[in-house]
Amino acid sequence: MPLLASGWLLRHSVVMCLLLHSLVLMTFCFNHAATSCSQRCYCSESDGDGKTVRCSNLRLTEIPQDLPNDTRRIYLDFNLLTEVPSNAFLDLPLLSELDLSNNELARLEPGAFRGLGTSLTFLDLSSNKLVNFNPEAFEGLRARANLTNNPWRCDCDLQMAMPRVGLEPLSLTGIVCETSDPPKVGAVGVPFLLAKDLDLCVITKKTTDVAMLVTMFGWFTMVISYLVYYVRQNTEDARRHLQYLKSLPTKQGQSEVSSSISTVV
Ligand SMILES: *[C@@H]1O[C@H](CO)[C@@H](O)[C@H](O)[C@H]1NC(C)=O
Ligand SMILES: *[C@@H]1O[C@H](CO)[C@@H](O)[C@H](O)[C@H]1NC(C)=O
Repeated sequence: MPLLASGWLLRHSVVMCLLLHSLVLMTFCFNHAATSCSQRCYCSESDGDGKTVRCSNLRLTEIPQDLPNDTRRIYLDFNLLTEVPSNAFLDLPLLSELDLSNNELARLEPGAFRGLGTSLTFLDLSSNKLVNFNPEAFEGLRARANLTNNPWRCDCDLQMAMPRVGLEPLSLTGIVCETSDPPKVGAVGVPFLLAKDLDLCVITKKTTDVAMLVTMFGWFTMVISYLVYYVRQNTEDARRHLQYLKSLPTKQGQSEVSSSISTVV
């Protein structure tokens, strides 16, 4: 009988032990999952392919700050992001794909993608509100980028920026002008890079030249008219002075007249 009881106890303690063990394991696992993935996003991991973080369609207005540092892909599309601040992804040395499409992005700060130069291979910025191209935002990047479906403004600044961009060249064909400065040069609706004959800087240079010319002409006219006025005024004064001297009756006056005539002449 005691032998049976001890046998029962032994069996049950083994079960209990196993249960406890799995409980501990489970909490450990949940803890691990909670600390190694961003709060609001879904993470998945596959061997050899690294970690993927999905934060799509969450009405996010800011980029989550708690992204795991071994993330390889981030989906932040269909959110309400309006800007990418400097160093937004600095602590993600393995990041190779970044999807920021279908947001409200209008501003990419200088160094927005700093730290991703060697790792990033694809950057999706399509379907946003980007107007001005800021080359400093893309410093160091060599990735392929999708820049389509943004209200790009093509102007001299954009033209000057193009040679400074290290993105894969084909990416830049995604910059299709929605407005241009100057307007009416045939840039609107055209991929900026493919409009070979377009030189927005020359045109603006011409207009500034014309403006300079007009201003200079204005100044010149002012100076000339002042000179004319000055000379006229002086001769008038001199004449009046002479007349006054002539009108003096005395002999002394006569000699003064002749002396002042000689000085005037
Ligand atoms: C992520 O951070 C941990 C802890 O700071 C560090 O040990 C690990 O090397 C980092 N991983 C990468 C890929 O940088
Ligand atoms: C870029 O994005 C647009 C719109 O999201 C999509 O239609 C297009 O296929 C993308 N192009 C590339 C090269 O990924």
